[in-house]
Amino acid sequence: MKIAVFSSKSYDRHSLMQHNAVFGHELHFFEPRLAPDTVALARGFPGVCVFVNDACTAAVIEDLAQHGTKMIATRSAGYNQIDLAAAARYGITVARVPAYSPNAVSEFTLALILTLGRKIHKAYNRTREFNFEIAGLEGFELRDKTVGVFGTGKIGQMVIRNLSGFGCRILAYDQYPNEAVKQYASYVDGPTFAREADIITLHCPLTPETHHILNEQTLPYLKDGVFIINTSRGALLDTGKVLQFLKNGKIGLLAIDVYEEEADYFYRDLSDKVPTNDELARLLTFPNVLVTSHMAFLTDHALRNIAETTLGNFAEFERSGQCANQVRE
Ligand SMILES: NC(=O)c1ccc[n+]([C@@H]2O[C@H](COP(=O)([O-])OP(=O)(O)OC[C@H]3O[C@@H](n4cnc5c(N)ncnc54)[C@H](O)[C@@H]3O)[C@@H](O)[C@H]2O)c1
Repeated sequence: MKIAVFSSKSYDRHSLMQHNAVFGHELHFFEPRLAPDTVALARGFPGVCVFVNDACTAAVIEDLAQHGTKMIATRSAGYNQIDLAAAARYGITVARVPAYSPNAVSEFTLALILTLGRKIHKAYNRTREFNFEIAGLEGFELRDKTVGVFGTGKIGQMVIRNLSGFGCRILAYDQYPNEAVKQYASYVDGPTFAREADIITLHCPLTPETHHILNEQTLPYLKDGVFIINTSRGALLDTGKVLQFLKNGKIGLLAIDVYEEEADYFYRDLSDKVPTNDELARLLTFPNVLVTSHMAFLTDHALRNIAETTLGNFAEFERSGQCANQVRE
């Protein structure tokens, strides 16, 4: 299939081209995000391949449909960037990569917990300046903590398994509890989860129900000094309120790999620009906040799986008009 690949970086090009030897698609790589002002690039492409920050809005989808696009495949598990109702209206099939490597995101989550928990980000900067003082770098041990895992799907389950080696108490919350999780964690109700977790890590998708799930109403119920990790989707947190609760100490530590307005910033080198987003700029001033740019997925293993599944999604659709990894509203 002739496929327009948007938001393509060097690592996407490398892994997709390597695996395309088997599939033989005609791949055209475009570095910009798919958005109203770039959608013209996709004209005449039956296949459009996107990533987490491409704006597959109703207007973009209408334009794609009018110019021959039949399938949109995202190189991600999450698909909240795609207006599924519009895709259905215009007869465009949408597919995703349901599970490319829960290990990648889980291990990154653990890395964030350990980095902030042991102040490795500060130690790294100190020693680079020949400052070998360790006062102020006191950390904590996970065996003394209760960790709450919110969402026990593929990634949440892996986080729980990985955490189990540290000897911490693990609480789990999900609308659909999973038997396998009960070996390592206890499912509790929402109020118990909020009240007892020292560390909360979010592993649910972004839906209307989970949008700003940590907000002005819910944050006060958490433990004082709670450590929050978000590697799922930025809009699970109400960033303005999170800043307020960081300032008053309710949130003691925050690690985020995702940010609700990341589409305008992440995956770009803006180091020579004046910061224009006050919330993001403010977040980056806190010594107890760690921000990474949506990279929890970025391992060699995951890139391999993403490339194989994405190219396979297009091939299956081209062959049969169906796709097992199709997502619907
Ligand atoms: N940072 C990254 O690089 C990266 C990479 C992959 C995935 N993700 C994010 O991680 C999320 C989780 O991925 P996954 O593969 O584990 O998904 P999954 O679908 O396997 O699991 C999600 C779990 O969340 C639960 N859930 C949904 N709504 C809920 C609610 N309102 N309350 C409680 N639980 C709820 C579901 O029941 C399910 O068990 C994705 O949606 C995506 O947003 C981020």
